[in-house]
Amino acid sequence: MNVDLAPECERFRGLVGMWVGRGSGEYPTIEPFEYLEEVTFSHLGRPFVAYAQKTRRAGTGEPLHTEMGYLRPVGDSAVEMLIIQPTGIAEIHTGTIGGEVLDLRSNTVCSTPTAKRVDVVTRRFVLEGDSLAYEMHMAAVGQPLQFHLRAELRRVD
Ligand code: HEM
Repeated sequence: MNVDLAPECERFRGLVGMWVGRGSGEYPTIEPFEYLEEVTFSHLGRPFVAYAQKTRRAGTGEPLHTEMGYLRPVGDSAVEMLIIQPTGIAEIHTGTIGGEVLDLRSNTVCSTPTAKRVDVVTRRFVLEGDSLAYEMHMAAVGQPLQFHLRAELRRVD
């Protein structure tokens, strides 16, 4: 659909589009890994931006993590983001966007009865022109808040 970005979403304009790149992850309870990633931020002209992400293991191409969500503008530079994962985890974030940095921290992380336990998630995206980098930290499976992922993506549209 070819519609104008909602005025409230102007702060997200630099994110809208498709991004691809590569990342790496670790956590004390698992083997370190490397992945390829594809992310799309899209909009329907309404005051939210949709987020869709999928990854594959670098080297083998095996499908790995995937997630979807919505980014919502609130007030001047405040944002809310909802992200759900097929592993049974739903993240509800609040944060800010400014100076090309989107900073999010979970207010709530909900899990289905069979999902792994995740207590806190932080995500920080840094946009520099056609490059988008992010880091994600989590407190999960009884471990304190610490690094899980970092990736660098480039715009492909
Ligand atoms: C680019 C996105 C991500 C990738 C590629 C990724 C990849 C992985 C991999 C390869 C593992 C090792 C075990 C397995 O194969 O399942 C893992 C474990 C895990 N990940 Fe991620 N992950 C991503 C994002 C996330 C996010 C957003 C969360 C939570 C909000 C999360 C939570 C976990 C948890 C709880 C474990 C289990 C740790 C354990 O069992 O000790 N991951 N992840």
